Amino acid sequence: MRIAIYPGSFDPVTLGHLNIIERAAATVDKLIVGVLENQNKSPLFTAAERVEMIGLVTKDIPNVEARAFNGLTIDFARQCKAQLIVRGLRAITDFEYELQMAQTNRILAPEVDTVFFTTELKYAYLSSSTVKEVAHFGGNFECFLPSLVAQRVHDKLKK
Ligand code: PNS
Repeated sequence: MRIAIYPGSFDPVTLGHLNIIERAAATVDKLIVGVLENQNKSPLFTAAERVEMIGLVTKDIPNVEARAFNGLTIDFARQCKAQLIVRGLRAITDFEYELQMAQTNRILAPEVDTVFFTTELKYAYLSSSTVKEVAHFGGNFECFLPSLVAQRVHDKLKK
């Protein structure tokens, strides 16, 4: 069984992430979206909220599930019995960081490979941080997110 993990912060999951999830899921038997819990930055959504939102927006893709994780991505990959780590590459600016992570992970876990999906051009500029900044200053951010997630951001900012 071909299992891949797609690790990230997903705070919150964007249309760009969803596009990578759909394409990656089509290439494996199972795709586990790993939501990193122990971040230094204080997230807008708890890990449980992020996992729930990913579950809801991927409910029609049967081989996708979302789980929270702590610690190293390669340990999460091993727990999931995954052979692959999926990451999205948006632009050249992502490359150095992604290459560093992939090379480090490959030394730590030679049995796990990292595969990159190039982000669709229309999402190449998109990041959760940008969306949060636009939302924070009252801009129109709904077009960047699945509608259910956009509603959750509205609700969160009202609180
Ligand atoms: O969505 P992000 O914030 O770009 O995801 C980054 C993530 C979660 C993939 C990365 O920070 C990560 O793998 N963190 C877990 C700790 C780890 O394994 N570090 C070693 C990688 S070099």
